Amino acid sequence: MTGRRVDWVATRGEPLHGDVRVPGDKSISHRALMFASIAQGTSGIRGFLEGQDTLATAAILHQLGVRIDAPSAGERIVHGVGLRGLRGSGAPLDCGNAGTGMRLLCGLLAGQDFDSELIGDASLSRRPMGRVVEPLTRMGARIEARPGGLPPLRIRAGASLRSIDYDMPVASAQVKSAVLLAGLYARGTTCVREPRPTRDCTESMLAAFGWPIRCTAGVARLEGGHRLRATDVVVPGDFSSAAFLLVAASIVPGSDLLIRDVGINPRRTGMLAALRAMGADIVEENPRRLGGEMAADLRVRSANPHGIDVPTEVVPDMIDEFPALFVAAALADGVTTVRGAAELRVKESDRIAGMATGLRALGVRVEELPDGAIIHGLGASGRLRSATLDSLGDHRLAMAFAVAAQRAEGDVRITDCANVATSFPGFLELAEAVGMGLQGP
Ligand code: S3P
Repeated sequence: MTGRRVDWVATRGEPLHGDVRVPGDKSISHRALMFASIAQGTSGIRGFLEGQDTLATAAILHQLGVRIDAPSAGERIVHGVGLRGLRGSGAPLDCGNAGTGMRLLCGLLAGQDFDSELIGDASLSRRPMGRVVEPLTRMGARIEARPGGLPPLRIRAGASLRSIDYDMPVASAQVKSAVLLAGLYARGTTCVREPRPTRDCTESMLAAFGWPIRCTAGVARLEGGHRLRATDVVVPGDFSSAAFLLVAASIVPGSDLLIRDVGINPRRTGMLAALRAMGADIVEENPRRLGGEMAADLRVRSANPHGIDVPTEVVPDMIDEFPALFVAAALADGVTTVRGAAELRVKESDRIAGMATGLRALGVRVEELPDGAIIHGLGASGRLRSATLDSLGDHRLAMAFAVAAQRAEGDVRITDCANVATSFPGFLELAEAVGMGLQGP
C-alpha cells in the first residue's frame, strides 16, 4: 500500500527482556469504527490500531460522510450518523490490504441506497470475495465481482434486503460478520451458523452498541430494524501481534518478557494453548475486563519447545498465528503437524507455501500438505542458516521470519516488509527495544 519497497536484515540479538505493549486489536478496531459510524450519537475509541488496514477503513467511513476525529494516537471520536445516515461516494473505496475491511464493508454497504465500489491492493485483489457475495446476494443484494469472485466489488443501490438462515461452508468470522451487518438492514431474523466457532467480536460489539443479538453454540441471530446507540470502546492489545513476541521469547534462551494489556478472548488465543502444549512458559498475569473483552499481561520466559499435532478444532482460534507457530515448530524438538488449515492459502499470501519456502531456505525440513504442513524441528541447539526470504508482501510472514532469524547463524534478509504497518506499526522499533536483532532500511 505504501508503494515503497522495504527490506529488513534480521540477525541473532539478545535474550528478550522488557515490559511492553502491542498495538490495538485489528478486528476490534475495524468493527468499532463501523458500528460507531452507523450508531446514533458520539462514540469514543481508545487503544485504536493506527495500522494501515484500520486507517483505510476510517478513510472509507469518512468518504461515506462520517466525521471521525483523532485527538491523539490510538484515540478516535466517531460522530455516528445512524443506520441510514451514510452517504454515497463517487470515488472507489480503497480497502488497501484489508480483507476484514472489504468483507465487512461489503455487508454494511449491501443494503444502502447508494452505489459503492470496493477496491484493494494487489494482494487483496487476489482474495476470494465470493464467500460474502454469495450469502449477501441470497439476501437480495446486487453485487458484481470479477470472475472468480475477486475484487473490485460493485454494490448496487436500493436492494431491499431480506433475512437469511445461513450455514457457512467455511469457518470465517469475516463472512459471519458481513452477513450480520447486512442483517441489520434486512427484514426478519438473520441467522448465521458456523461449522466451527470463530472470533465473536462482532456479536459482542453489537450487544455493546445495544442491538439485540442471540448467540448460542455456533449460531448467531439478530433482527433488522433496531438502532445502534453510541458507546465507548476500549480496544485491548492484539493477541495476534503479541504472538510474534511470545514465540521469539520462547525460542531465545534467557528471555523474560512482559506484554501488557493483551486481549485473551478464547476465540483468539488458540496459539496460547498450542504453545503451552509445546512446552512454552507463558503466564497470564492480572486477568481482567478491558472494555468488553478479557485481557491480561502475558509473561513469557524461554523454554525448549517440542513438536505437537495441532488439534484441528483449535485452528480457527489461531488462524492468524500459523506463521509464528511454524517458526516455533522449526526450532522445536521433534515434528509438528498442522492439518485442517487450508484457509491459510487464501490469506494475505498463501501462508503454507510462503512459510514452507522460507523455512526450507533457513535449513528446515518442511513437507507441505494441501491443508497444512509437517515441520521437522531442529531442536534446542538448532541454528538456522543465513538466507534471503521473500515475505510476499505479507505482514505476518515478514514478522515470523524476523523472529526465526533470532536463532540464525548469520544475517537473514527479508524482502517486501512494508505491509507490517497494516497490523503492527512500530514492530521494528519494539523488536529492537526488547533485544531482537532487526534493522530496517
Ligand atoms: C478476521 C477474521 C479472520 C482473520 C482475519 C481477521 C476478522 O479471517 O484471519 O485476520 O476480523 O473477522 P477469516 O474470517 O477469513 O477467517
